[in-house]
Amino acid sequence: MKFFIDTANLDQIREAQERGVLDGVTTNPSLMAKEGITGKENIMNHYKAICEIVDGDVSAEVIATDFEGMVREGEELAALNPQIVVKLPMIKDGIKACKYFSDKGVKTNVTLVFSAGQALIAAKAGATYMSPFIGRLDDVSTDGLGLISEIRLIYDNYGFKTQILAASIRHTMHIMDCAKIGADVMTGPLKAIDGLLNHPLTDIGLAKFLADFKKGN
Ligand code: G3P
Repeated sequence: MKFFIDTANLDQIREAQERGVLDGVTTNPSLMAKEGITGKENIMNHYKAICEIVDGDVSAEVIATDFEGMVREGEELAALNPQIVVKLPMIKDGIKACKYFSDKGVKTNVTLVFSAGQALIAAKAGATYMSPFIGRLDDVSTDGLGLISEIRLIYDNYGFKTQILAASIRHTMHIMDCAKIGADVMTGPLKAIDGLLNHPLTDIGLAKFLADFKKGN
């Protein structure tokens, strides 16, 4: 399972990279705005800075909602760095743009996926990644993890290569549940990743080992 961090905050990305288990970064217009990154030049430079910190894929989202606009923006984004994945919204023109980029060998991430039908069409369009937002489904009392299971089944039935990128991860158990179901990738906050490290028996065991070592030395 790949671990992506879902932020545009460079300090957080650096910290996650230092853990040694990071496979990439996802961003979206809200996350960029949260960091105060506005204006085309600043946005492009910010993506370049992210690519310098991490080794893996960096999703950069288009703002246009028409096919021509998405192609124009996506080509500019893809030209920044081979690590860039063009992130496209799950709408008719987004799917058309996804097919366009996948035919050209440019990596894509179809975002804002909330149903198995949407996931199926994203895979048909050759998406590299497809992002179901599980936390936002949970927020409206709909089973986000259930959606991941449905998509896993459909993709396995037909051998689709599109990677299921579980997004809108809110906590550590989301990561564990997605791992059990077979999501290929998860993207979430560093706090959720760090939650995987913790167990009180580890802390108690280590304290005992160190105390026993001290007694003998
Ligand atoms: O980047 C897409 C997704 O992960 C957004 O998450 O927490 O805004 O629902 P959230």
